[in-house]
Amino acid sequence: MFAEMFAQLSEMPSPISNSEYVSRQNKLYQSLEQTDLLILCSSPETIHSNDVHHPYRTQSNLLYLCGWTEPDAVLCAKFNNNKWETHLFVQPKDTLKEIWEGRRPGVEGALSDWPVDIAHSVNDLDSILADLVAGASRVMHRMGINSDVDQIVTDAIMRRDRARQRLGSGPVAVEDPSNRLAEMRLIKSDSEISQMKFASDVSSFAHIAAMRHGGSGATENQLQSMIEGFFRYAGTSGWSYPSIVGSGENATILHYKENVDTCKDGEVVLIDAGAEFRGYAADITRSWPNNGKFTDAQKEIYQLVLDSQLAAIDECVVGKPYNAPHEAARRVLAEGLIRLGVINQSLDEALDMESGELKNWYMHNTSHWIGLDVHDVGVYLPDGKPRLLESGMCLTIEPGLYFGAWRPDVNCPKKYANLGVRIEDDILITDSGPVVLTEKCPKTIDEIESIVGKGI
Ligand code: GLY
Ligand code: MN
Ligand code: MN
Repeated sequence: MFAEMFAQLSEMPSPISNSEYVSRQNKLYQSLEQTDLLILCSSPETIHSNDVHHPYRTQSNLLYLCGWTEPDAVLCAKFNNNKWETHLFVQPKDTLKEIWEGRRPGVEGALSDWPVDIAHSVNDLDSILADLVAGASRVMHRMGINSDVDQIVTDAIMRRDRARQRLGSGPVAVEDPSNRLAEMRLIKSDSEISQMKFASDVSSFAHIAAMRHGGSGATENQLQSMIEGFFRYAGTSGWSYPSIVGSGENATILHYKENVDTCKDGEVVLIDAGAEFRGYAADITRSWPNNGKFTDAQKEIYQLVLDSQLAAIDECVVGKPYNAPHEAARRVLAEGLIRLGVINQSLDEALDMESGELKNWYMHNTSHWIGLDVHDVGVYLPDGKPRLLESGMCLTIEPGLYFGAWRPDVNCPKKYANLGVRIEDDILITDSGPVVLTEKCPKTIDEIESIVGKGI
């Protein structure tokens, strides 16, 4: 079945071009002073156990500016001879290490194939960075990602400080460049959108694979294996966040992660899973009945969540505040729960953030930005006001209702006991309206009932 679904995928898009990376770099440099030094470092590797590392994923800002994916990398930029120069420090070629750990592009590869002007061995970082810092009046660097680099920067600044006291030249300040990068990353280019579309298509087919494999008696871990198996089969790097596969009451735990139980007859399973492709995330949730047929009670809640999701997607329009979809979803959910007798309050009362009952059953936000990070960067309330949606922004729309009968804090309606439903898609804002990047993933009741348990 994987081969059949793979054949339906569009061809992989071209990678982000070096010229696009260079134009991103130039855009950032335009916002800097010519006496600034920019530093972006990779995330450190982390240990799984003893000498085994977690699969490596670098820091998204570094990926965004130059596409370098290996660990132990630092990108610097400095204005020199009337232009900005981009330096990249990388692990040098090392035959013995490469025999054990894999090939490295090395300094030569970085210079010939990546969008940088100068490449260095990371072994020379300390001395070269000290020189670069010495000539700068402000270091644009985010502390806290890589403590080794933080130490080098701090030491270099201390040395510079002594020189400053001797020579009287200006002080060295450290400032975090992340907000400037976040503003850029908030608006996706066509090339970024094509990476996200591929991640979305793969994720959509992966959810279909799980639906087809599903059936009472399947286990959450088997469904997870279908999803994540297809992520890799289709050529993505794997998940963009750990998959959530919860059946029955597990579906009422928002970030359930054990994924080990059996999916029982009569339960709804909720799967929140998305692939990462060339660093770009997809984020999809689908909820469906294990036995392939929603009960009437499940249908009531499922259709209500779907209606709220469609109402929220309709609000994904240029010029609307980013939280308009959330408010639309909340309103539809509250109206529906009042109609179904779950909430005995007026609409305004139900929506109240302090005393409203909606938050008993819908306790999270409807949206987050999505891009290189699944919860992508970008200030939601610049100057304290909701940001207005612009063409090229990408956000999720993911309303849900969760009736955890195990919760001591609420009286769960018996009819909906241990039912959790979330429906999540990824939306691109365009001048001609919302584009659902994850549209290949079925979500109507009829579509779902025609797929679940059909076999692989
Ligand atoms: N998968 C995490 C989220 O939906 O935000
Ligand atoms: Mn999400
Ligand atoms: Mn999600």
